[in-house]
Amino acid sequence: MNPEPMNPNNLFLIGFRCTGKSSVGRSLSEKLGRSFVDTDSLLVTKQKMSIKEIVGAHGWESFRQMEHAILKEVCISDEQVVATGGGVVLNEDNVMLMKKSGRIIWLKATAESIKARMLQDKDTQDFRPALTLDSNISEIEETLHSRESLYKNAMDFFVDTDDRAIRVITDVIIKKLKALDPNPDKPEP
Ligand code: S3P
Repeated sequence: MNPEPMNPNNLFLIGFRCTGKSSVGRSLSEKLGRSFVDTDSLLVTKQKMSIKEIVGAHGWESFRQMEHAILKEVCISDEQVVATGGGVVLNEDNVMLMKKSGRIIWLKATAESIKARMLQDKDTQDFRPALTLDSNISEIEETLHSRESLYKNAMDFFVDTDDRAIRVITDVIIKKLKALDPNPDKPEP
């Protein structure tokens, strides 16, 4: 159970690559009338390079530092839906920051559906750096497995995304948020 957030009106979407964080985030922000931010996109705009280029030029450690700095900046603002990078939970400070700044929703998917979505997603080949040397199904399974406890410990709740439309996932999230914050004095999620 996460501590009561200081600012419960930020909503952070966490989860592995291709679990729909950006698409669901956009849909959720529209439904809730909030602004949408994507930490990877902010970083890309700031650095004027794709994530693949940033990692290629500066390495993973620098990328993770930049990711932390961007998340910190984002957490200053309120009433946002925030799509994070798949590895945001690798840094405990990021998790603490998100826990203090809002609710954390884990978008869950099986390795099989992640692999299928990655194959369909042009951005994966062009803009996403490889996480491992070999991106076959067992590598996805392995990375996913190693991160599962981190997503689980960070989340307020999870939503299964396998075989579900963006609209359905959005509605499930809104329902779960209402169950989590039933206090009518608080602004409706
Ligand atoms: C990463 C996922 C990417 C991006 C970077 C690292 C990861 O974000 O932040 O390539 O470690 O899983 P997406 O989850 O949006 O692909």
